[in-house]
Amino acid sequence: MKPSMALALLAGSAGLFVATTVNSQDSQESEWWSPGDVHELPAQVDYANDSGVLRVLFTDEEVRTTQNAFFQPIGANGRACVSCHQPSDSMSLSAETARERWDATDGRDPIFAAVDGSNCPSMPQGERASHSLLLDYGLFRIERPWPPRDANGAPVETDFEIEVVRDPWGCNIGDRGPDAGNISVYRRPRPVANMKYLLAIGFPQDPKLGRPVPVDPRTGEPTSGNLLADRRALTLDAQMDDAGAAHLEMARAMTPQQRSEITQFLMSVYAAQQRDASGTELNANGAEGGPQYLADSPAGMLGAYGKRVWSEFEPWEQMSEEQLAELSEEEREYRASVARGARIFRDETFLITDSAGINFPTFGNPFRQACTMCHNMTNMGNDVAPGQIDLGTQNAPFADPAPHLPLFRVTCTGEPHPYYGTEILTHDPGFALTTGRCLDVGKITAQSLRGLAARAPYFSNGSAATLRDVVDFYDRRYNLQYTEQEKIDLVNMMGAL
Ligand code: HEC
Ligand code: HEC
Repeated sequence: MKPSMALALLAGSAGLFVATTVNSQDSQESEWWSPGDVHELPAQVDYANDSGVLRVLFTDEEVRTTQNAFFQPIGANGRACVSCHQPSDSMSLSAETARERWDATDGRDPIFAAVDGSNCPSMPQGERASHSLLLDYGLFRIERPWPPRDANGAPVETDFEIEVVRDPWGCNIGDRGPDAGNISVYRRPRPVANMKYLLAIGFPQDPKLGRPVPVDPRTGEPTSGNLLADRRALTLDAQMDDAGAAHLEMARAMTPQQRSEITQFLMSVYAAQQRDASGTELNANGAEGGPQYLADSPAGMLGAYGKRVWSEFEPWEQMSEEQLAELSEEEREYRASVARGARIFRDETFLITDSAGINFPTFGNPFRQACTMCHNMTNMGNDVAPGQIDLGTQNAPFADPAPHLPLFRVTCTGEPHPYYGTEILTHDPGFALTTGRCLDVGKITAQSLRGLAARAPYFSNGSAATLRDVVDFYDRRYNLQYTEQEKIDLVNMMGAL
């Protein structure tokens, strides 16, 4: 296990922290959960990573892996939900784990199934190069209909045309491309823990679109608006149907029994760092951290604007001389760095510009706020408000060069886009693949920010290999001019989530 770069930069002896963590705690480095494995679900399981220890809590004693469809290969390709949502990876799947699986199974694990675990099913399977997007960037292929379809399968009217500029893997041409009624984009598995926060209903109105959020047809309640990168599913039921058909290649629809088993499991999993890089429990001495705290706390609370998003680091700033005396110098420095990172995240404002969903239609361009403008849900850092934002991760000129990803040219046929004009170059139109509106091109749902250390790379298209790359992206995107120390502080803080 290698010490994280941020820690290494901070203190030459940082490796010592990590070594202490691994040796003295009852935690594992990784453990692969295969579909159909018989696991006694423990109350909790700990996994060491570069930034400390991740803990996954299973709060429902009734759940049995042998009797829950989340763990069973219920489709045609031998996968289960757990294949791509692994406990050691904070219920996502890191690119590193995918590579370990490739090596351990000679590329035969069901995660590499041709349908979406290869760059394109038309490529020769069994060769590493055909799975490079999964192995190098942690990406699965997501095929969306073009033109988009509404919940009843009817085509949605669009106000843009789409053209393929670059198609590195042959999944966007001929009988697979937009001309044939499909668009392939590539996305990271989103972490499926702490679901009550993702499903919390913050607002009945979607401020990013300026209209009411759609209701759940089954309950009549407003939906959270925060599921999946492109919000193509409004409810967990719809999401499960989508995953069953697309990822598991189920021939038949998921049964109500399977849906209810999976829901029961999903609503009882919590994941977050439990120990920081110095080996200290994040909920020690009354601090409010770790997955148990997430499980016990109410979801959907707005933590921005002077209030707290991350509560666990506040006491770190208020330690008494006596408490400080018990820490080594490195530990003291590390804790001060994390506490500063939490403050930067909450308080250091900058000009948010040209980000549809925020600057348009509601807040004006530019708009001065901090990271918590968009990551404002207490304890989780996803957005309390429903809706999708164009951060620039997918679109020129802000996206990092990504020759491995497809590139599309969107031409707006109605009103031009407020920031890009009539033509937009994008790797993934995101929310626009759901709505058909040029205004929504490149908009992605903000993820929750827990367990980050266990599930690199970051952003929906995996464009940030490390947390440092995330900070560097923001630094360029919004011209933040962070000092080296500020970058280190943010990375250390995010690693402790
Ligand atoms: C082949 C890998 C794979 C398998 C198998 C898989 N998923 Fe996923 N999951 C993904 C990817 C990729 C995404 C993100 C897709 C997107 O954003 O468009 C995702 C997203 C999700 C989300 C949304 C979380 C959020 O924050 O929005 C949930 C919930 C989910 N999956 C549950 C499941 C369930 C339940 C199953 C089994 C029925 C399952 N997944 C099987 C890859 C997988
Ligand atoms: C204008 C809204 C906005 C602001 C301000 C913002 N973010 Fe984000 N953030 C997003 C969106 C949207 C995504 C998802 C983008 C994607 O996946 O392509 C995201 C994703 C992330 C991720 C990746 C999470 C994952 O699971 O991959 C991290 C980490 C993150 N943001 C940290 C920060 C930090 C640190 C700041 C302040 C410097 C910040 N964000 C400011 C909207 C914002």
